[in-house]
Amino acid sequence: MIHYKNDEEVELMRKSALLVSKTLTEVAGMLKPGITTLSIDQMIGTFIRDHKAIPSFLHYNGYPFNSCISVNDVVVHGFPSQHPLKEGDIVTVDVGVILEGWHGDHAYTFMIGKPSDDVIKLVKITKESLYKGIEKAVAGNRVGDIAYAIQEHTEKKNGYGVVRELVGHGLGKDLHEDPQVPNYGKRGSGPVLRDGLVIAIEPMINMGKKEVFTEEDGWTVRTRDGKPSVHFEHDVCVRKGKADILSDYTGIEAAEKANTALYSVD
Ligand code: MF3
Ligand code: CO
Repeated sequence: MIHYKNDEEVELMRKSALLVSKTLTEVAGMLKPGITTLSIDQMIGTFIRDHKAIPSFLHYNGYPFNSCISVNDVVVHGFPSQHPLKEGDIVTVDVGVILEGWHGDHAYTFMIGKPSDDVIKLVKITKESLYKGIEKAVAGNRVGDIAYAIQEHTEKKNGYGVVRELVGHGLGKDLHEDPQVPNYGKRGSGPVLRDGLVIAIEPMINMGKKEVFTEEDGWTVRTRDGKPSVHFEHDVCVRKGKADILSDYTGIEAAEKANTALYSVD
């Protein structure tokens, strides 16, 4: 069942989404070679609670951390650990909060030091594909129009692998609501998008093949071929004419540019 949000509810969801953006901005200022992803996760938990919110991933289906931090060939749901980050790593930080009962859930992939040119291109194309998907998130279109736009830019144009097992989703009082929002599909297929639908659009794109597997821990999703994977996620409200992006990369990108330990693309 799809839950449409009224204007007041959308504004509350914007607050939740922006708290995630603010958290990721803090992360962008902290990342450097040598830092452990566990220390980032701890900062994330403290920051969210200091802002009167709850880290929504913690205990979700038994998930044991505040955030998902996925390095290199980890696609999503990486466990924060004592393993230090190093030059050339790419790191996806995925954060969720519940603020006044409403979920925010978004993610950003950072580059530590300067990765190889093909990794930089993967990051750039994946981020572009997110915005191409968002452009289609307007009332009257269908979920398949978003999916097609993302697949077109990543798989068809650039030969990347689009992960099939994990998809974007509706967002609201629950972290995962209907509809599912895949990153692959046919134009004009799937549920119709209507004004007030809030969705998390989240391309998960592999440099190599699309196949992934889940580790013994039951969570960590990795590429089968061991090549890197990138994940960007925004929370978006479907509107007539133009989608309203509730989350915001502006602060994150400014902090990324200001941090000399990080590489950034525009
Ligand atoms: N952002 C992810 C999602 O949309 C992460 C949730 S997994 C969790 O599904 F278990 F950590 F919550
Ligand atoms: Co999500």
